[in-house]
Amino acid sequence: MMANDLRSDFPAISTPAQADGPLKPSAPNIYLDNAATTHKPRVVLDAESGFYRDFNANPYRSQHKAGIRATKLYNACRDMIATFIGADSDEVIFTRNATEGLNLLAYSWGLNELGKDDRIVLPIYEHHSNLVPWQMVAKKTGAELVFLYPDDDGLITDEEIKRVVTDKTKLISCAHISNVYGCSSPVSSLVAAARSVGARVFLDCAQSVAHMPLDFRAMDVDAAVFSGHKAYAPMGIGVLYIKRKLMSNLEPFMYGGEMIDQVSKLTSTFQDGPQRFEAGTPNVAGAFSLVSALDYLMQIGWGTIQASEHALTKQLMDGLKRIKGVQIIGSTDAEKRACCLVSFTNDLLNTEDIAYELDAAGIAVRAGTHCAQVLHNYLKLTASLRISPCFYNTSEEIDRCLQVIEEMPQRINRRLISSLP
Ligand SMILES: Cc1ncc(COP(=O)(O)O)c(C=O)c1O
Repeated sequence: MMANDLRSDFPAISTPAQADGPLKPSAPNIYLDNAATTHKPRVVLDAESGFYRDFNANPYRSQHKAGIRATKLYNACRDMIATFIGADSDEVIFTRNATEGLNLLAYSWGLNELGKDDRIVLPIYEHHSNLVPWQMVAKKTGAELVFLYPDDDGLITDEEIKRVVTDKTKLISCAHISNVYGCSSPVSSLVAAARSVGARVFLDCAQSVAHMPLDFRAMDVDAAVFSGHKAYAPMGIGVLYIKRKLMSNLEPFMYGGEMIDQVSKLTSTFQDGPQRFEAGTPNVAGAFSLVSALDYLMQIGWGTIQASEHALTKQLMDGLKRIKGVQIIGSTDAEKRACCLVSFTNDLLNTEDIAYELDAAGIAVRAGTHCAQVLHNYLKLTASLRISPCFYNTSEEIDRCLQVIEEMPQRINRRLISSLP
């Protein structure tokens, strides 16, 4: 199956790119910002509206037939997500996004389990969503944040883990894949190190969920999160996996309807299991759409997705390496990339200017610090440009993007000359 066959599944970008089309604002839509959010296939758009058309009712509350159907549908979605991530249904909590899942862990687990002298270990490349909540926990509990530093390729070595993880470590929380390096954290080494000192491991799968199969039971992590919108599902739905044993001891994160057991005037008791953490009306349409998005990925198959994304990554990296002034962040070897994402700077050009120039050519990429300011400070960079294709992108689109970047210095010169009086 080729990108062009699948492209028509995505209404927002279904006009194929013209490799040598004119540079103009109305140029074909080349979307290379999939690490920020992906487009949604028609099946997902249909699932979202289909819920409201055919199933709309509030689950877990209403006794009428539609309410019971909505409850059954929502539970079935939980079952299907559990199968997708190697978990049991009662280990799957629906959230709004990865950020909410990480905050839930910080508030419900971190604030109650950590104290002075305890250490929270994080790679320096963490997204703010997996750093700032732990800063809050550290501030309130007296726990200390300690960082793992990657090598020049963006990889964390076993020696680094040995240097940082000690008896004081109570948590290692890390991105499965860095949203700047595009490289994987060494999950099995981190889990082994954590187990040897009795620490927990939380995994942020925001950047991996769309690119590889996830099996949290096999990985043996204690908790994991992802957002649906980075995996072809709508915004506003995410998943938090928590191992059953850990979940049973956790305080609720939010309080309100349907997470309670008994409520009296001054005190309440709470449900066990995922409902304890899903206060208020849940996003059933989102859960249903997420299942349809993951099912869509399964229909394509990981083999096809990974082969196509690997080829695009290699083409992109090879092309960038040939452009004067470009410095790729992390490994320049496509084999070391765990997903289709390349960040770089350009000695000759400002990254924001490149992003604007690409945008003017109808090409969407991202410039900035990608919610990883600490990593950029560590690398002594003010910003970088990130290009993140996925299986629905074509090799012509990558060529077009590379061409615009490569020709930019000449275009700037031409503009300067033509603006001279
Ligand atoms: C590695 C990583 N973690 C967490 C997030 C936060 O995702 P969301 O904004 O969907 O909660 C992102 C988003 O870019 C990310 O790349």
